[in-house]
Amino acid sequence: MSTTLTLNGTPRALESAPATRLLDALRDAGLTGTKEGCGEGECGSCTVLLDGAPVNACLVLLGQCEGRSVVTVEGLAKGDALSPLQKAFVDEGGTQCGICTPGMLVSAVALLAEEKAPTDERIREALAGNICRCTGYERIVQSVRAAMGDGGQGK
Ligand code: FES
Ligand code: FES
Repeated sequence: MSTTLTLNGTPRALESAPATRLLDALRDAGLTGTKEGCGEGECGSCTVLLDGAPVNACLVLLGQCEGRSVVTVEGLAKGDALSPLQKAFVDEGGTQCGICTPGMLVSAVALLAEEKAPTDERIREALAGNICRCTGYERIVQSVRAAMGDGGQGK
């Protein structure tokens, strides 16, 4: 039994069992950009967009995604070109080891889709569920701020 969904804008049928965690189903489908940190909904490294809202893919079952839209970090770039937000993370030093980065990017995209010019406080609030062990967060906030130059689309 497969689960049909729209994955990064393309209709797909994923063959993993419906009770498989979305995180595992995505990785089994070759989308390994989504990372597992805690596996318990605490770190945010597995964040994806489900119908436009950020969710922890380790807490969602594939079967819950039937007929819905999922966007992973792979869906943010335009072909081979980094999105403005991804480029800002590179340019501003918002990524170091990179484990948290896919989740940070996805959470930030969701924020910038709602708010064109969030304050630093709002950025920190929106990313509060995303844990980073490396950067001290300042560079991440700076990266999101730098991506606002494109009108807040960030992707
Ligand atoms: S791996 Fe999903 S929240 Fe940590
Ligand atoms: S860059 Fe290493 S955990 Fe964030």
